[in-house]
Amino acid sequence: VSISKGNHRHFMLKEIYEQPIVVAQTLRSYLQRLEERVTLPVPDDFDLAAIRRVTIVACGTSFYAGMVAKYWFEQFARVPVDLDVASEFRYRAPVMEEAGLMIVISQSGETADTLAALRHAKAEGQKIAAVVNVPTSTMAREADLLLPTHAGPEIGVASTKAFTCQLAVLAALAANFARARGRLSPDEEREIVTHLAEAPAALNAALSYDEAIAAMAPAVAGARDVLYLGRGTDYPLALEGALKLKEISYIHAEGYAAGEMKHGPIALIDEAVPVIVIAPSGPLFEKTVSNMQEVQARGGKVVLISDAQGIAAAGKGCLATIEMPEAHPLIAPLVYAVPVQLLAYHVAVAKGTDVDQPRNLAKSVTVE
Ligand code: G6P
Repeated sequence: VSISKGNHRHFMLKEIYEQPIVVAQTLRSYLQRLEERVTLPVPDDFDLAAIRRVTIVACGTSFYAGMVAKYWFEQFARVPVDLDVASEFRYRAPVMEEAGLMIVISQSGETADTLAALRHAKAEGQKIAAVVNVPTSTMAREADLLLPTHAGPEIGVASTKAFTCQLAVLAALAANFARARGRLSPDEEREIVTHLAEAPAALNAALSYDEAIAAMAPAVAGARDVLYLGRGTDYPLALEGALKLKEISYIHAEGYAAGEMKHGPIALIDEAVPVIVIAPSGPLFEKTVSNMQEVQARGGKVVLISDAQGIAAAGKGCLATIEMPEAHPLIAPLVYAVPVQLLAYHVAVAKGTDVDQPRNLAKSVTVE
């Protein structure tokens, strides 16, 4: 694999742009397009149907992929899911019952806290599945079920393409789980396969808004604080958006569940705090928009990321809108990752920070 920036100014931008290809590459090993089935590389002695509880553990961006997966596993497979950052999980005396599956998610497969959590769970008799990008990594070797992402080498310290590939694998796993638990009819499975297979094209469409996002980045670059709001699977995306912005532009940012805003962060709202609202049209749209209007009523400047329908319904009065293609709820988290990545990227470029090597951060954290 050649590791160069190609025509891109930074590895991060190159990796953002690789997403349609690497997500397609990843999905190829999980979807049987012709048979319209989702298939995992599950060994014979690994019985998904026997799993009674799932524990998802990861750090950083990988943790937010896990948070999206929790919504999916619960909704599609009706399996109880416990979720924690690895550094907390390891030391909180978690209760791990029989027939439990731990899923670790890690780009590097070497993050010390996640690896410690894996080993602890294994010692407690849990089955281990690992969603990792480095197939030769320690976590890959120690797992009972290896679910690789095929993102290729990720050089930018701030994770981008690994995240969307993790989401692709976790969506396939959610579907597999649902089938194993008798909760997915062949028709539903066919529908899931169809929508997942649409993800690369939808990511491409999302990338076409790059220039528009670059044009509005200066409006955010001057801020000292930025809030990100979302509900459902857009809540982890709000957290991921805030993390990306902090990591590479050094602007203080917080992600909040939109409905939780009135319990604190609303006190921060004034015209100096841009609020990025992630709200695709769908069942939660109205709820998120009503939180957005609470922000606007207090003079807050809103950047709404939604689809054409959502922007037509609620875009008036926003500082800016970023229009995404229509996306099925299962692939929306992948699609909406693109604008939050691009926004962080362009804000960082506007501020002149070292995008690929942000201060104080390491690509792989192999000490506790
Ligand atoms: C570091 C990186 C992040 C990454 C996190 C988890 O903090 O800077 O981009 O999300 O580690 O890494 P992992 O390799 O376990 O996904």
